[in-house]
Amino acid sequence: MLSFDVIGDIAIIKCFPILLKQKNISIDIFAKILEKNKHIKTVLCQKGGINGEYRLGNLEWVFGEQKTDTVHKEYGCKFYVDLNHVYFSPRLSFERMRIAQETKNGEKILNMFGGVGSFSIMISRYVSISKIYSIDINPKAIQYALKNIKLNKINNKIVSIMGDARYITMTHLSNKVDRVLMPLPLKSFEYLIYAVRALKKRGMIHYYDFVHSTKSEDPIEKVTQKVSINLCKQGIDHGIKFARNIRSIGPNWHQIVLDIKIK
Ligand SMILES: C[S@@+](CC[C@H](N)C(=O)[O-])C[C@H]1O[C@@H](n2cnc3c(N)ncnc32)[C@H](O)[C@@H]1O
Repeated sequence: MLSFDVIGDIAIIKCFPILLKQKNISIDIFAKILEKNKHIKTVLCQKGGINGEYRLGNLEWVFGEQKTDTVHKEYGCKFYVDLNHVYFSPRLSFERMRIAQETKNGEKILNMFGGVGSFSIMISRYVSISKIYSIDINPKAIQYALKNIKLNKINNKIVSIMGDARYITMTHLSNKVDRVLMPLPLKSFEYLIYAVRALKKRGMIHYYDFVHSTKSEDPIEKVTQKVSINLCKQGIDHGIKFARNIRSIGPNWHQIVLDIKIK
């Protein structure tokens, strides 16, 4: 069985070289995807993993309408994305709703790696928050975040800021927020100290990480230890309130989330 992600009306399959070589077989498979899923208009192939600072996939059009932009709907929110220019994953949909449910009315929030606004918009739609600062270093992500804020009719609550989360946090957001989101596993560990700085005296950090673990190791325990040792070394009193293995991202590789309460 060929597995694929669906973003709006675009299906994205991981491209195995054999599929590309045997062109007739691949066309047949792509046609079947469209036939079985009437709402899908385009099939794109993702060659390799997600790469670079902006976390983009190397996508190639293979079937249907030639386009890379679409509107993805999730829990009543709409996200307009162009997958050639911005990151988006439908696999984080449960996580977005989970964070929205954790958030309390009146909170100020920092989303250090906001992308097209997916977490920020979901939270704003379901909770009466005070403000979310949604930072991203990719100018296109900010452009799409602004479009999505309008599309979802969310006024004033989300402040989109283009730049490096470390710099913006240190210059403008120290001791300002109740909750920090860090949905960039590759940089979360390095940026954790800045997330702590952004918090008022107490607060919650949603920390995402990738971890490799053998069969005898517990991936959640591994990330918990790494983070706790780091925070303890810096004298930061904390507790891990929740942890979850979000998904497998390759053989023995996992994406983990920790909800860290800073005391
Ligand atoms: C994995 S994506 C997550 C985006 C969004 N939160 C989502 O789930 O759809 C990580 C985002 O972080 C942005 N990014 C990378 N380095 C950054 C930095 N130093 N400061 C701010 N944003 C950064 C990338 O451009 C990308 O949009």
